[in-house]
Amino acid sequence: MKIAFVGKGGSGKTTLSGLFVRHLAAARVPTIAVDADINQHLGAALGMDEAEAAAMPAMGAELPLIKDYLRGTNPRVPSADLMIKTTPPGTGSRLIRVTEDNPVFDACARPLSLEDGSVRLLATGPFTESDLGVSCYHSKTGAVELFLNHLVDGREEYVVVDMTAGSDSFASGMFTRFDMTFLVVEPTKKGTAVYRQYKEYARDFGVPLRVVGNKVQNEDDRDFLRAETGPDLLVTVGHSDWVRAMEKGRPGALTELEPENAEALRRLHSAADGTYAHRDWERYTQQMVHFHLRNAESWASERVGADLAAQVDPDFVLRETPQAQPV
Ligand SMILES: Nc1ncnc2c1ncn2[C@@H]1O[C@H](COP(=O)(O)OP(=O)(O)O)[C@@H](O)[C@H]1O
Ligand SMILES: [Mg+2]
Repeated sequence: MKIAFVGKGGSGKTTLSGLFVRHLAAARVPTIAVDADINQHLGAALGMDEAEAAAMPAMGAELPLIKDYLRGTNPRVPSADLMIKTTPPGTGSRLIRVTEDNPVFDACARPLSLEDGSVRLLATGPFTESDLGVSCYHSKTGAVELFLNHLVDGREEYVVVDMTAGSDSFASGMFTRFDMTFLVVEPTKKGTAVYRQYKEYARDFGVPLRVVGNKVQNEDDRDFLRAETGPDLLVTVGHSDWVRAMEKGRPGALTELEPENAEALRRLHSAADGTYAHRDWERYTQQMVHFHLRNAESWASERVGADLAAQVDPDFVLRETPQAQPV
């Protein structure tokens, strides 16, 4: 299952992504956490110290390796230079499984012991607003998008992405890559404005989206979110002393999290799990092709000097029982 936490800066994406990853680790669910936020703080939220977080490899810096591995023997992608962030997999491409070992994880993932379980952390590496945009060939988040487009994940394994709700994810189609998107919204007009924008994009592509109210202090806050986000509101989270203690450098075990916040995490888990029945690999593949063709036409074919629309393998559908893979 692929889950995104999005929202405006400071809303609590990293905090809630971190808590959700801890919840999954405690439940012994195989999990990959991906830090794709402009501000790279997920490692710290998962208990890494400064030196460990600083030593995280950047997926953005490993793009050539990632591209070379994923294209495998796909004849439609004869070199990594011709691979852009939306290049879809086809016959001969290498696909990724959550629990396997492969050169991409060797280069980019770091294991983390959490709540008596273990997860893998991946990070895009630091980027700025200027890295975001439709025509960015070296897009840092492009590494995550390629990873997601080549990922074959099952119901009982999770990829949790802490992500910026920026124009980049709309232009590239990254926002359509998730079984469930949790939009973290504070009870403010700025928070709900991001919700309305995201909702508009999501509606056109059938993207499952639920609102997680954060920093909700009282009934008036809850009423405000209910009025602004209606049935999309899944759950609200209040100020957490557990989170604040962690921020002071005194992390506790997840079992000590406030019961109402622990319940909120269970509800996120079951909302995510509930989307599995609606999973449609053909539509998923069609959507990545749609965005690839759009990028190919608007900038990429010209940029690389080749017709990138020809990278689409018309017979290929990404599925849970992978098609022929190179050895
Ligand atoms: N429910 C919460 N309880 C206590 N502190 C919170 C809560 N949610 C977020 N915070 C704090 O608010 C700040 C911003 O949260 P963060 O998760 O970093 O936001 P984002 O990733 O969306 O930019 C952090 O200092 C974080 O610890
Ligand atoms: Mg963050």
